[in-house]
Amino acid sequence: MFIINCKNYEEISGDKILKFVKIVEKVSKKYKVKIAIAPPQHLIGLVSNSKIPIFAQHVDNSKVGSTTGYVIPELLKKSKVTGSLINHSEHRISSEDISKLVMKLRELKMISVVCVKDVVEAKKYSKLNPDYIAIEPPELIGSGKAVSNEKPEIIIKAADAVNSANNNTKILCGAGIVSGQDVSKALELGSEGILVASGIIKAKNWKKIIEEFSKAMNN
Ligand code: G3P
Repeated sequence: MFIINCKNYEEISGDKILKFVKIVEKVSKKYKVKIAIAPPQHLIGLVSNSKIPIFAQHVDNSKVGSTTGYVIPELLKKSKVTGSLINHSEHRISSEDISKLVMKLRELKMISVVCVKDVVEAKKYSKLNPDYIAIEPPELIGSGKAVSNEKPEIIIKAADAVNSANNNTKILCGAGIVSGQDVSKALELGSEGILVASGIIKAKNWKKIIEEFSKAMNN
């Protein structure tokens, strides 16, 4: 599977997210590739009836009821959100919150994707048995220089760490991935999927690039 983190890019602001989601739905169906989208939090309601999984970009360890401004798993679930990124490099949280949120998402049967910056963190958080660990070297995020080319060893080592810690967690990688070739290389190195943002959102032709990623996922 690959997850497209829309971040707060202007390209998918307002109604533009609808056009984007439609394209992803079509490509996902045509190539039979599982693609999830993480829209900006305030746009989740606009796309929650989509045929593809919708993830949150971030979730807070806060409770149902008298809490203000937090995004909480229980209410995301009621809005048909399937899962969430946790601890993205651009929105880091405490290890206590990571641990509580992985447990909470599991209880709710939602998919947890814990983002980590290095192999040490991959090892540490794979012990929580999240559904996915996504390794992203922060310095390569948004750089157009793919982690699979610049730091291949980090994918190999993270995959080893995750696979030896438990049987269930799958490994994703991301940062700077912009082409089908980058995707293929990441999969060869042991990644089971991709977490991507600018390489797709900022591409001139969304359909073309999502198809390119999908073909690479299928090879
Ligand atoms: O969450 C995905 C991410 O941080 C990678 O960003 O723009 O390098 O694909 P990008």
